[in-house]
Amino acid sequence: MDLNVLPSFRKMGIGSLLLDRAEKEAVTRSDTIGIGVGLYAGEDGGYGLAQRLYVKCGYIPDGKGITYNYEPMIPGNSYLLDDDLVLWFTKKLIWEGLWIY
Ligand SMILES: CC(C)(COP(=O)(O)OP(=O)(O)OC[C@H]1O[C@@H](n2cnc3c(N)ncnc32)[C@H](O)[C@@H]1OP(=O)(O)O)[C@@H](O)C(=O)NCCC(=O)NCCS
Repeated sequence: MDLNVLPSFRKMGIGSLLLDRAEKEAVTRSDTIGIGVGLYAGEDGGYGLAQRLYVKCGYIPDGKGITYNYEPMIPGNSYLLDDDLVLWFTKKLIWEGLWIY
């Protein structure tokens, strides 16, 4: 959680590398990895860049809809568009053997 690259270091592949490293760690204990992402974009891109990155890296929505403060949302209710409004993604992981760093 909280994947973050400082603005001046973005669009150099660092975010993808961090994601790849997290997946290599996660696959040693699970066949699935997940991450939640906010829904708004902002001056520094907000969550828009992250949404693109996760989809490009093979993450798909978990099918459970959006949550607010980790609770399922109720259709017809109003919610604040802030950092607690989140869409969750998961990705199936495939064990590819040993890695040497
Ligand atoms: C999301 C985030 C972590 C991505 O980090 P990043 O280091 O910029 O990620 P990458 O460089 O791997 O990829 C981002 C883009 O740069 C492009 N890119 C990667 N290497 C590149 C290079 N050498 N030259 C040009 N572009 C490059 C990628 O294709 C991608 O392009 P796209 O947005 O058009 O799809 C970063 O934007 C961020 O910190 N955002 C704010 C915080 C946030 O939303 N975090 C997620 C919380 S869930």
